[in-house]
Amino acid sequence: MDLTEKNLHAALEGREIGYPIHFYQLTESTNAVAFRLAVQGASEGTCVIADCQTAGKGRLHRLWQSPPGLNLYMSLVLRPHLYPSSAPTLSLMAGVAVAGTLKAYCPAGIHLKWPNDVYINERKICGILSEIKTIGKRIQFIILGIGVNINMTTEGMPDPLRNIATSLKEETGKDISRLEIVVKLLDSITDQYHSFLSEGFGVIRTRWRSFTQMIGQCYELSTGNTTYRGEILDIDERGALLIRREGNTIHQVLAGDVVIIKEQP
Ligand code: BTN
Repeated sequence: MDLTEKNLHAALEGREIGYPIHFYQLTESTNAVAFRLAVQGASEGTCVIADCQTAGKGRLHRLWQSPPGLNLYMSLVLRPHLYPSSAPTLSLMAGVAVAGTLKAYCPAGIHLKWPNDVYINERKICGILSEIKTIGKRIQFIILGIGVNINMTTEGMPDPLRNIATSLKEETGKDISRLEIVVKLLDSITDQYHSFLSEGFGVIRTRWRSFTQMIGQCYELSTGNTTYRGEILDIDERGALLIRREGNTIHQVLAGDVVIIKEQP
């Protein structure tokens, strides 16, 4: 069992991002715990990890499958001095950090799907859920919640996930240490966060683009209640997806989730 309170303390003690560490064998949701700790004043870098979540939160109120002993469920408290409008760019930064970490295991095939799903070979391996609390016109804190499928097998997945999700074990054929992924991922997040704070989103945007295959493709998109077809042009300086809609108008998709329904040639 590589993810234990003792191992995590030994590996993470003193880190700027990743410590203090709060480890739970079982909890509802690491995001919910991290949010509560942040409300109580938890410092920047505070990390919550669980072996198993009973109500792991996904985007759009979906449940995130969180069986014990297999995957990584981690949430970080960040307190950047930024406007709330920067929150989407911090989520994109987390996606870049995850993609950079997993690339070392599967160099051929890591892709980011806007806003911040991580895919290997067309199957989702990681989801990121960020939640913010504002104070006045500023971010008071942001919780970055990251779920990575590590040693879950396709066979062990519930039916609806079998054809759309994957794990590091499925892709590499090996059991991978979750502790190793925690340490590498926190190294990567620390690097990306420093770049973000010192150089701004531009540098992260360039890295994000290098991990995506979406730009230049035509997709049918649905956001909230609206479904439309468009060519994906880019992500802009606020982290919005820029698409050209039929009729040639340029549209920014910033809020909510974009589901790719069908790729067009
Ligand atoms: C998505 O829908 O793609 C986002 C999934 C985010 C799941 C992670 S697991 C750790 C953290 N705690 C949660 O309750 N959710 C996030």
